Amino acid sequence: MAHFTSAMKTTVSLIKADVGSVAGHSKPHPKMMTECRRVLSEGMKNGTIRDFYVTRVGDDINLLMTHTRGEDNPDVHKLAWDAFMAATKIAQNLHLYGAGQDLLSEAFSGNVRGMGPGAAEMTFEERKSEPLIVLMADKTEPSAFSLPLCRMFLDPFTTTGLVIDERLHGGFQFEIVNVFEKKRIILNGPEEMYDILAFLGDTIHYALKRVFSKDAGIGTAAVVSTEKLSLIAGKYVGKDDPVCLVRSQAGLPAVGEVLQPFAFPAYVSGWMRGSHYGAWYPCSVSDSDPTYHDGPPRLVALGFQVNDGRLVGLEESGEHIPIEYFEGSCWDTVREEAMKQSMHMRRHGPFMPAILPPEEMEYTTLPAVRKKLEGRFEKL
Ligand code: F6R
Ligand code: MG
Ligand code: MG
Repeated sequence: MAHFTSAMKTTVSLIKADVGSVAGHSKPHPKMMTECRRVLSEGMKNGTIRDFYVTRVGDDINLLMTHTRGEDNPDVHKLAWDAFMAATKIAQNLHLYGAGQDLLSEAFSGNVRGMGPGAAEMTFEERKSEPLIVLMADKTEPSAFSLPLCRMFLDPFTTTGLVIDERLHGGFQFEIVNVFEKKRIILNGPEEMYDILAFLGDTIHYALKRVFSKDAGIGTAAVVSTEKLSLIAGKYVGKDDPVCLVRSQAGLPAVGEVLQPFAFPAYVSGWMRGSHYGAWYPCSVSDSDPTYHDGPPRLVALGFQVNDGRLVGLEESGEHIPIEYFEGSCWDTVREEAMKQSMHMRRHGPFMPAILPPEEMEYTTLPAVRKKLEGRFEKL
């Protein structure tokens, strides 16, 4: 394995895909997870990556990797691709549902929007101590992270540090992507706060991609998976079950300030057939199986330290053990509210606002129905 020196920058790559699951779109088979671990161990042995952790949220497998190769690195992306392909083979052999669906266009599932793994990657010079929060969501889309990230990095009623900590007082910079026009803009918080919110409030056209510290010594503070892996001909596809990396503490929001926004079970889009709004539900990995109407949209938060390009959790030996922030009882009240809100939405059935605007629906018969009945419309 390559020797790590303190002058080297660390890259964290979080790459995710849904390559099949047990009983519909619920949970990857444990053999698929083991296969991903085997492939990434090989990659670690041959020096492609320095460390990894294989996890999941709902039906998505999430590969957390650390290395010194920078973002969009073909070797690292190929390694992730190989892990997903190996897991796909298991899913195919067991005739699991949606086997290879994010990699193979012929996978058996009505869900073709999820084509291509998603990636959130950031590169930084490690501070003396580097706390990292890994956020993983299922049954929703990348712009779901825009609201909580604004709360963390722009809202003094969430992050009191913006007011009382000299190191945060200057604010942060926000990279906003127009996902349809494939354009980006970087705006300054808090100076341009109302412009930032004017864009990001439109969660259909705009998504927050990155947040930067104004302290060049810190650099990237957060990144969301609004893009697909470079090796796949990229067109933006909406309901992507996004991931997000957030660095924390010492000049950045504290862990508690990062987590507080998720105590509000915001309505996010992408639930059930990628076509519904639901209130997202913070939970542990083991509680992340979609159990009510293919949801509600789940959200998991894991905590690691990054040390010399390696991950440090609570392990004494063997596999990594991250902190599971949403596991504890103080989140029960949020889960209860999320269920109440999601059930309230469901009472609208196939009516808006439970369903998305027509052009955003992942499944729709409306154009065909319109065409079929065109001749039966009479002028008013
Ligand atoms: C998949 C998802 C599900 C599916 C639904 C219908 O991640 O969000 O809600 O969209 O179960 O799936 P198909 O069309 O494959 O039967
Ligand atoms: Mg899926
Ligand atoms: Mg999913």
